[in-house]
Amino acid sequence: EVAGGVRSFRLKAGSGLTELLPGVSFRTMGYNGTFLGPTLRAARGETVRVAVTNGLTTATTAHWHGMCLPAAQDGTPHQSISRGETWTAEWTVDQPAATLWYHPHPHGQTEEQVVRGLAGLFLIDEAVDDAGAAGLPSEYGVDDIPLILQDVAVASGGRTEGGRTQAPVGRLGNTVLANGTHQAHFAASTPLLRLRVLNASSARCYNLGLKGGGRLWLVGTDGGLVPDPTALERVLLSPGERAEVLVELAPGADVVLRSFTHELGMGGDEELAGARDEFDLLRISGPAGGVSAGIPASLPAPELSSLPAGPPQGATVRTFNLGEKSINGATMAMDRIDLSVPAGAVELWRVENSSDHAHNFHVHGVQFRVRSVTGKDGAGMAAQLGWKDTVLVRPGESVDLVVPFGKHTDPDVPYMYHCHLLWHEDQGMMGQFTVV
Ligand code: C2O
Ligand code: CU
Ligand code: CU
Repeated sequence: EVAGGVRSFRLKAGSGLTELLPGVSFRTMGYNGTFLGPTLRAARGETVRVAVTNGLTTATTAHWHGMCLPAAQDGTPHQSISRGETWTAEWTVDQPAATLWYHPHPHGQTEEQVVRGLAGLFLIDEAVDDAGAAGLPSEYGVDDIPLILQDVAVASGGRTEGGRTQAPVGRLGNTVLANGTHQAHFAASTPLLRLRVLNASSARCYNLGLKGGGRLWLVGTDGGLVPDPTALERVLLSPGERAEVLVELAPGADVVLRSFTHELGMGGDEELAGARDEFDLLRISGPAGGVSAGIPASLPAPELSSLPAGPPQGATVRTFNLGEKSINGATMAMDRIDLSVPAGAVELWRVENSSDHAHNFHVHGVQFRVRSVTGKDGAGMAAQLGWKDTVLVRPGESVDLVVPFGKHTDPDVPYMYHCHLLWHEDQGMMGQFTVV
């Protein structure tokens, strides 16, 4: 609803029973329903107001993952919504077109609420939409398709919700849903599809590819479009990350988007982390006729060139050492601010993983660039193009991020940085910073 220049949304977190697989009902949570939440959408320059009501029996929050906004509107553990209460966030959208998302962030309870279904997409458009003109499919639900990936656990025998496997990376499910649907199928009516894929799982990575071969054309990452469509055989997405990919469909084609085995650099624990699992995610049937106009040669992502790949001379360098469940040896304390950054600064954040487990690193309130990945395995850079807010860091790797901070200052209310494996986050693998 738009009134007086403000785009308003209402979300109500609730719970219920949902039959996610034929004959198998799960205890679920959702916004404005019992599982997942509506796609919110706003354009750059618009003021957004979201009233979030907590219809759960426990406290929650609503966090706008990837959004550049004032810390007090960010929906972190500091903006807790008690049972029955409504919290309203308001901010002006000031960042490039992107596939963002929202989810709860209550301290210590995030995994439980997200895996039960509290998650939704938040799409940002440019003020003047040039995506369609550039040849990018942009008709939501027709050729521009959201795809939220989650794993759930079904007990052996397949008739009841089962226990999840507790792995070193968190809880893993044995069944994967796309938009809440097992063995999802999409009958395309056009020869070129754009999939906006979100990994909304707690701990599982998805290594996207097409079964039987064929390329995915990467056109967007967490914070917006990349400069040029890039053909990739695989796109690895860790929890919280997004990828926008184009798929070309010949008339009558039948293709399957699948998650393939991958390498997390965890040695003997690789299997425990789910890296050896494969799942079909979405079967796509092509249109009866029609020929694709082709993959666009370039994309309207002008701001990518405005930030140099490296930080400015003399930039502050900060190091974040990822331990088993800590960052720089510390775990989260609500009343401790770990660091302060001057508004508008561009800093170099070096994230090193000295533990035996893969982690991923997420920063609130900003979009950063991945400058380099060093260590045993520099793979995966292709999918790190463009603006990012979450990045996978394997054991032994060190990842350099160029982070431009925004102009929203608040000396008292912090933003978070944390591991986005939700169990690690809940265990306190998180720190806080202010922008002053
Ligand atoms: Cu997606 Cu601090 O979270
Ligand atoms: Cu976030
Ligand atoms: Cu972690």
